[in-house]
Amino acid sequence: MTENRRQRTEDREEKKEVRWTKKDLISLEELSREEIELIFNTAESFKEVSTREIKKVPALRGKTIANVFFESSTRTRTSFELAAKRLSADTVNFSSSDSSTSKGESLRDTAKNIEAMHVDTIVMRHSSSGSAEYLARSIRAGVVNAGDGIHEHPTQGLLDIFTIREKKKSLEGVKVCLVGDILHSRVARSNIWGLKKLGAKVTVCGPPTLIPKRIEELGVSVSYDLDKVIGDQDVLNILRIQLERQQGAFFPSIREYAAEYGISRERLQKARPDVIIMHPGPVNRGVELAGEVADGPHSVILDQVTNGVAVRMAVLFLTTMVER
Ligand code: CP
Repeated sequence: MTENRRQRTEDREEKKEVRWTKKDLISLEELSREEIELIFNTAESFKEVSTREIKKVPALRGKTIANVFFESSTRTRTSFELAAKRLSADTVNFSSSDSSTSKGESLRDTAKNIEAMHVDTIVMRHSSSGSAEYLARSIRAGVVNAGDGIHEHPTQGLLDIFTIREKKKSLEGVKVCLVGDILHSRVARSNIWGLKKLGAKVTVCGPPTLIPKRIEELGVSVSYDLDKVIGDQDVLNILRIQLERQQGAFFPSIREYAAEYGISRERLQKARPDVIIMHPGPVNRGVELAGEVADGPHSVILDQVTNGVAVRMAVLFLTTMVER
């Protein structure tokens, strides 16, 4: 151990700082409260980089990040690429349509081939739950889960919670209601794990058909009546109706869903004056959220997107620079 490294270790022990030890980020279920706080503190220090005229620091110079997306994405893919570039990493992007997976190559073989080109970290989105963990076990390179089926979307959970912390100053005792399609939502699962670890009080609200059985075991309250709970919440995180993952009818019609669970201007009047409205995007305007609410003064949707870059810079930095 070099003198510098020994000194850093001693400094950390003295301040009881947590040390990042993971080459992968697969879920918020696997992170401790201290690890989540370390990501947030790192994100806070990186957030200012995106406001500079020259939006770049050399933190990942010489490293290579591959963005491998087997499902469509606007926000996540773009912000991971911007995050990597702002840290001076080299980036390579590909999707299922322009890769040899369309010729039948397996996920493991695809990743092994990317790794053979000395990529340091692979950011992956895939439709199969568990695919990110499988990949992380199969390769030496780091793996960051950008959404795996209905399992987790950890960086979305992190940026949502980072945004709540920024707006409400602390997570302890903050009341957060996740509204809508909880059953198919990897964003909901990541939010629940992270929010509970940081001391928030979580309610899930939606049609009974879209609330997973036994979800109370995760320590959340369940409501099927938004009008009953809306007035008690500090944060409403409105989830997208995931029609692409729904097989069969989970509610009578989009119109009836919007009437029961959509946030209209009228329904918003029942909420606290300082409530914040969140949505991971993409928004189905007029279904989960009225356009005027999505664009209104309570909405922090674009702050979430801005914070996504800082949080992903922190995650890429910590996972890529971990001592292996
Ligand atoms: N929130 C989110 O994952 O958005 P994209 O699908 O556009 O990446």
